[in-house]
Amino acid sequence: MAMRETDPVTPSESVRWDPQVYAQFERERTQPFVDLVSRVTTDSPKRVVDLGCGAGSTTALLARRWPNAEVIGIDSSVDMLHQASSMPDIPSNLFFEQGDIARWMPSSGVDVIVSNAALQWLPESLELLRQWCEAMDSGATFAMQVPHSAQLPSHVLLNRLAKSDRWRDQLGEDIRVGGRVAAPSDYLELMLASGLDAQAWETEYLHVLAGPEPVLDWVRGTSLRPVLGKLGPDDGELFEQQYAALLREAYPRTAFGTVYPFKRIFAVGTKR
Ligand SMILES: C[S@@+](CC[C@H](N)C(=O)[O-])C[C@H]1O[C@@H](n2cnc3c(N)ncnc32)[C@H](O)[C@@H]1O
Repeated sequence: MAMRETDPVTPSESVRWDPQVYAQFERERTQPFVDLVSRVTTDSPKRVVDLGCGAGSTTALLARRWPNAEVIGIDSSVDMLHQASSMPDIPSNLFFEQGDIARWMPSSGVDVIVSNAALQWLPESLELLRQWCEAMDSGATFAMQVPHSAQLPSHVLLNRLAKSDRWRDQLGEDIRVGGRVAAPSDYLELMLASGLDAQAWETEYLHVLAGPEPVLDWVRGTSLRPVLGKLGPDDGELFEQQYAALLREAYPRTAFGTVYPFKRIFAVGTKR
């Protein structure tokens, strides 16, 4: 495993992560990770890497599953990594490193590479994925999950509001709402063409969320961050109020909570 030494660590596209806000829906955000790694069949890896590990609670699941492996979580966010190292009961085989995963390459000896809900933040993720797959050892496994959120009402509305007359000048035409993801078949074909036996699939989770503005709270942890990062506190609050009104209409509360359908793309491949 190697970080190219000469490149500085740069956080992803002016996104300042907030571990507390992100962790608000930990159960819902952990389930796709569990579903992803359930398809990894490696018995006793020596080295496991989690790219974009965030606050590390999911990386800890890998360390507990494979207690004899060295498990390394890499993330560019100081805030997320601070939270990761403050986790109680950190398994002794779990380590965290600060780094830009866009500048990471697998070196010999890495048996499992996992990336959950992170690759969508990288501008050239397909090209990187191709390079990673080509550099992997024979027998090594890559498992990835990205949110397929661009067409969700929450993200369409956020995009529309950010590009409305009121906000366009402040936010800029190129403001990014949601990540860059390809079609499930693109990930599958890329892995197959890079010499992996691979599978890809998509799952729609129907989250039932509690609280008065749960979809706003959810998006605050991820896709709203680049927008709020560009606005000052007063404008940020006004933007959120306008966005919250649109979300209430799109996702009405029921007696059981607010149902938030959310699609995710998965791909897992093992190098032949
Ligand atoms: C949505 S969080 C997912 C965290 C974790 N994988 C999980 O499943 O809970 C995305 C993470 O990717 C990290 N990230 C984004 N771009 C990155 C980059 N270029 N290098 C390293 N980490 C990055 C962010 O700092 C953030 O912690």
